[in-house]
Amino acid sequence: MQEKIIILDFGSQYTQLIARRVREQNIYCEIHPFNKIPELDSGLKGVILSGSPFSVRDENNPVPELDKFPKDIPVLGVCYGAQFLAQVNGGDVYPSETREYGRANLSFVDTENILMKGVSEGSQVWMSHGDTINVPPNGAKIICSTEDVEVAGYQFDNSNIFGIQFHPEVYHTKDGATLLSNFLVDICGCIQDWTPASFVDTTIADLKAKLGNDRVVLGLSGGVDSSVAAMLLHKAIGKNLYCIFVNNGLLRKNEFSSVLEQYKGLGLNVKGVDASNKFYTALADLSDPEKKRKAIGNAFIEVFDEESHLIENVTWLAQGTIYPDVIESISVTGGPSATIKSHHNVGGLPDYMKLKIVEPLRSLFKDEVRRVGKAMGLSPELLGRHPFPGPGLAIRILGDVTAEKVRLLQEVDAIFINSLKSSGLYDSVWQAGVMLLPVKSVGVMGDERTYENAVALRAVESTDGMTADWVHLPYEFLAKVSNDIINKVVGVNRVVYDISSKPPATIEWE
Ligand code: XMP
Repeated sequence: MQEKIIILDFGSQYTQLIARRVREQNIYCEIHPFNKIPELDSGLKGVILSGSPFSVRDENNPVPELDKFPKDIPVLGVCYGAQFLAQVNGGDVYPSETREYGRANLSFVDTENILMKGVSEGSQVWMSHGDTINVPPNGAKIICSTEDVEVAGYQFDNSNIFGIQFHPEVYHTKDGATLLSNFLVDICGCIQDWTPASFVDTTIADLKAKLGNDRVVLGLSGGVDSSVAAMLLHKAIGKNLYCIFVNNGLLRKNEFSSVLEQYKGLGLNVKGVDASNKFYTALADLSDPEKKRKAIGNAFIEVFDEESHLIENVTWLAQGTIYPDVIESISVTGGPSATIKSHHNVGGLPDYMKLKIVEPLRSLFKDEVRRVGKAMGLSPELLGRHPFPGPGLAIRILGDVTAEKVRLLQEVDAIFINSLKSSGLYDSVWQAGVMLLPVKSVGVMGDERTYENAVALRAVESTDGMTADWVHLPYEFLAKVSNDIINKVVGVNRVVYDISSKPPATIEWE
């Protein structure tokens, strides 16, 4: 049975970070909303209660049904989690005089305590709370304090239930990894056997058992997620995996042929379908970003549906959905989250396709997907590729899309991306691309006045695409790229660099 830690989410901005820190210790964990405790099995080793934007004193504060967990299961409450456990067990939680946010230092540490082993006195911790536990809960002893917060951590007597007011998952908490490891390994008894290689082995075995001799169809995009998902399925069911790679005419320069070759080289059973004209027709005269996305989405579904009907007896659709897609689609507060751009895979299956869904990467973060890919021997080139949006260059061509504009943007994009690669900058950038602007501007070439297109280069750093900052590319590099573009691509006479962060901007312009 796979050992597992459950993180109950009360809506903290740091919940995903807790999951990452647990997994960094080679321990599998899952995040669940506080009010949706999943079915439990004997693999459960411990529970972590996250922080929250709510106060335990709020009228509608989140209240988990902790008695659904086995009585002796170790529990670590973090921030709100600690305040909640304190409050329901006779402790006192008060609003702090001042909201405590930022660095503090531990002025007292009970070094004999199993949770605090190796955490040193004076060690820096990261606080972020508006409430403080003034009086520890009944039957609990204080295990650490800061100057301002006496009950910075506590343990219930004779039990493995702990609360800490600071955030061990944040890097600024110097001994945070030690504290988490004490909880996970010494208290919960985890054996830390969750590695990329073990994930590959168990997933292949699970896929074999689940799919048997069934046929599966998968849409490859050339990106990391669908490629890694395909390799796992390929190893599990071989030729029963039918991959379809659609050229929507909106890919990067030469990408369709080069990626198709790469897939064939990996032994995948892949069919390349050139449907460029269908997509250009669907996009004709559309300028609105959401209408463009919808038109592309619909065209893709049509092509994909047509192609999958050509495969006899196919019963499964495989998708490269990853964990952030899954948790983003769950809202802790139950309210609908705003749709900023319609680009999530979850729930996007048209009814008439009537296929069962298999998502082998559903539990992994992006960097874990890359490590799994590496464990299966996928090339660094494929695994290191920048994310690229499904609607491709169509949402980087502002306004209406034509085959000619795509060709122009492909040329410019290729110069930018190849220059990043040849200067050794590509891997330090999370995502880069070029926007073709719906503006013409005046320039001069030789003795001639020109009136041509402007393009905007975009390069951002990010960890998950949710927030991003523009990369401070060297001026010399930008100067050379700009020069190359204007000299080599007929039709472009001006290059600008986008220095907006997300938020308030987004990565793509549409
Ligand atoms: P934004 O522009 O929302 O982009 O900051 C965040 C990340 O999502 C990608 N993106 C898309 N991916 N279909 C996709 O598959 C889309 O419609 C889409 N829009 C944006 C974007 O490239 C970035 O990685």
